[in-house]
Amino acid sequence: MQLVLATTNKGKIKEISKLLNNKIELLSLKDFNIPPIPETGNTFEENAYIKAKTVSEKTGLMALADDSGLVVPYLKGEPGVHSARYSGPNATDEQNNLKLLTKLQNVPKAQRKAFFVCVIAVWHPSGKHFHVQGNWPGYIATEPKGHNGFGYDPIFIDEQTGLHAAEMSLEQKNQISHRALALKAFLQKWPNFLQQLQL
Ligand code: IMP
Repeated sequence: MQLVLATTNKGKIKEISKLLNNKIELLSLKDFNIPPIPETGNTFEENAYIKAKTVSEKTGLMALADDSGLVVPYLKGEPGVHSARYSGPNATDEQNNLKLLTKLQNVPKAQRKAFFVCVIAVWHPSGKHFHVQGNWPGYIATEPKGHNGFGYDPIFIDEQTGLHAAEMSLEQKNQISHRALALKAFLQKWPNFLQQLQL
């Protein structure tokens, strides 16, 4: 059985390969010539399915895609599905962080709650599909701290440890992050899904 990972991100490919223990032949977008897939959905779930379904249709194989971002309930869910391009189409991480900090200027801690979301969706050519979601709770800092990670990590404070995500090592972050939680949920559902495909 083959599974195409709808990503070219080396880190993601490595992390998923490790979890699936070579029980399935893993391919990625590096093995196919598929143009970028526009993420036109209004939710993380929609975007994950758009990517998984498109890659499955273009390759004729089962595909897995993920979509992630940061949600601030006080800002009605912003940056949400626009996390990567919050301050414009070519936004840098610094610009996105600054925009969020500015919007939350003088907003007290109780309203600075936030969570990272990761949705993983799997689509099989038969139309069978499933998805899982991981949420990492925390709150938005008043200023950036730490140099690890990427994206909103310098301004996201983990609820449990009080550390900014950018202060954590990759190993520490990979144990508690939204992606880690989604992957755990994925591994729980995966064997059942494979069984269903064989029915
Ligand atoms: P993607 O769906 O994995 O490409 O993530 C979309 C955007 O969400 C990224 O460009 C980041 O801005 C943000 N994001 C997702 N995961 C993280 C994370 O673990 N740390 C910081 N920012 C993240």
